[in-house]
Amino acid sequence: MGNEITDGEIVVSGLTKHYKQVKAVDGLSFTVKPGRVTGFLGPNGAGKTTTLRMLLNLVAPTAGTATIGGVRYADLADPLRAVGAVLEASSAHKGRTGRNHLRVVCASAGLPDSRADEALELVGLASAAKRKFKGYSLGMKQRLGIAAAMVGDPKVLILDEPANGLDPEGIRWMRDLLQKLAGEGRTVLVSSHLLSEMELLADDIVIIAAGRLIAQGTVEQVIGQAGSVGTVRVRTPHPDTLLGALDGVTATPGEDGALVLTGVTAEQVGDAALRAGVALHELVTERPDLERVFLDLTAGKEGIR
Ligand SMILES: Nc1ncnc2c1ncn2[C@@H]1O[C@H](COP(=O)(O)OP(=O)(O)OP(=O)(O)O)[C@@H](O)[C@H]1O
Ligand SMILES: [Mg+2]
Repeated sequence: MGNEITDGEIVVSGLTKHYKQVKAVDGLSFTVKPGRVTGFLGPNGAGKTTTLRMLLNLVAPTAGTATIGGVRYADLADPLRAVGAVLEASSAHKGRTGRNHLRVVCASAGLPDSRADEALELVGLASAAKRKFKGYSLGMKQRLGIAAAMVGDPKVLILDEPANGLDPEGIRWMRDLLQKLAGEGRTVLVSSHLLSEMELLADDIVIIAAGRLIAQGTVEQVIGQAGSVGTVRVRTPHPDTLLGALDGVTATPGEDGALVLTGVTAEQVGDAALRAGVALHELVTERPDLERVFLDLTAGKEGIR
């Protein structure tokens, strides 16, 4: 008899997978909290898929553990109801309709057929329920994969690069759905290399490179932790006068004649402009984005291995 999970915290501890040629995952530890979307980021070959496969008991670790609600996946009483997973663009029998595909999944998990229709509704595929899988677009296949993961109404959802192949509308749809599911108290762990998308989607992020942890925390914490400095963008008809009124500033020319300043705050620039009697046509604080932070943090560690 296995265990039921009561909360969906994921704990990865010292997780390691060494293949002959490569340390795919190397002493990796992080936690993923319920009620939040956690982005699992890393360059190609970083070990994301291998980590998720170990979490789901599809690959045996060389060392370390991964638990969901304190239990290893293999020891879950009812894994399909506890954890939903979308590992790659879903595949299904070509001649089967989306609805029948989900009914097969329901049957294998001991769930009623009605869950198939509810899951189709959830992912916006109800109108395509009776169409055959071979006629589905890539975006529809992605949605069907999520529907299959959701039939058991799981507390935990694990997705490997679910946004691959989606158009901007599909990506927005996915973001809204995953945030809604996390808002219901579920744990949502989603891997990606689409950093700009993660910045909009994720509450927390875990960054890995070469199988090792690089950073984890809220998006804000990770940006802060990286020590990447923000810049101030300023546009004025009298740049030389303005710069003369500022100490310890590095200025680089931006687009359309703007200056990009580091080493000062927007307040200091505004005050200096007032003192120097210089008009400002633009004054903006620019936060470093996740893309920049990610590149800084993983520099020299990336590369397809
Ligand atoms: N079955 C395997 N046998 C040997 N090496 C493997 C195996 N599976 C993965 N690897 C290697 O482990 C490393 C990590 O691969 P993994 O697929 O986990 O990375 P990833 O972060 O998911 O990359 P991507 O962004 O390209 O999906 C790579 O060097 C890969 O070649
Ligand atoms: Mg992968």
